[in-house]
Amino acid sequence: MLKKNKQELKIPNHIGFIMDGNGRWATKKGLPRTIGYKHGVEALKRTVEGCLKYDIKVISIFAFSTENWGRPQEEIDEIFKLIRNLVTTDLQFFLERDIRLVHMGNRDKVPDDILKAVDEAIEKTKKCKKCILNIGFDYGGRDEIVRAYNKLISDKKTNVTEKDVNDALQTAYLGDLDILVRTSGEQRVSNFMLWQMAYSEIYFTKIYWPDFKAKNVDEIIKFYNSRNRRFGKI
Ligand code: FPP
Repeated sequence: MLKKNKQELKIPNHIGFIMDGNGRWATKKGLPRTIGYKHGVEALKRTVEGCLKYDIKVISIFAFSTENWGRPQEEIDEIFKLIRNLVTTDLQFFLERDIRLVHMGNRDKVPDDILKAVDEAIEKTKKCKKCILNIGFDYGGRDEIVRAYNKLISDKKTNVTEKDVNDALQTAYLGDLDILVRTSGEQRVSNFMLWQMAYSEIYFTKIYWPDFKAKNVDEIIKFYNSRNRRFGKI
């Protein structure tokens, strides 16, 4: 936790994580890539703890993208198994910390048992107030925007404004991203919350996601406080 009084610190409302480097972390250790994801879940729980200390209200994570269907089936199965565990075996972790779980992304290709488990967790945590953990699976930023447009078309909307598009997004209730974090040394935003990151700060770190610790959130907050967010103004 940073020493500066919490009141004096600027705290992002909404933080996003591209949890990258799980496969490389495992390969480097001579382990199967799937082990990297298992450790990635532990890193996620540590990160959530780190964010709670700063009272961050929304955490969005990229667990499985619309492009990840192209990965080997074994890897796809492992990630979905971990998502199911997260919302069942680990549900107590979230309930005890007053964390509401929500999902962003599509549902049609996702196995029914996973959807059932996710829906139950969403229902059981719906009154939690401390923080929202927004889990992106079968999620793509472009896909979310396309779905918003299709919603506007089916609502017969004309003269569409930015607000109309924004309000039609699945994640409209979560607001814009204040800071995006990507681990593993890759410096790109891929297909994550493209609309929401227009004025987001971006923090890249070389750490592989499974090595990410609660104290690394301190570094993110320090970075965020060093930034002067001008939102296009001077
Ligand atoms: C990218 O790392 C990350 C993913 C494709 C998925 C991240 C998923 C997890 C950390 C575990 C499951 C999540 C939850 C919420 C239960 P990569 O595998 O592409 O790493 P690499 O670039 O080193 O190959």
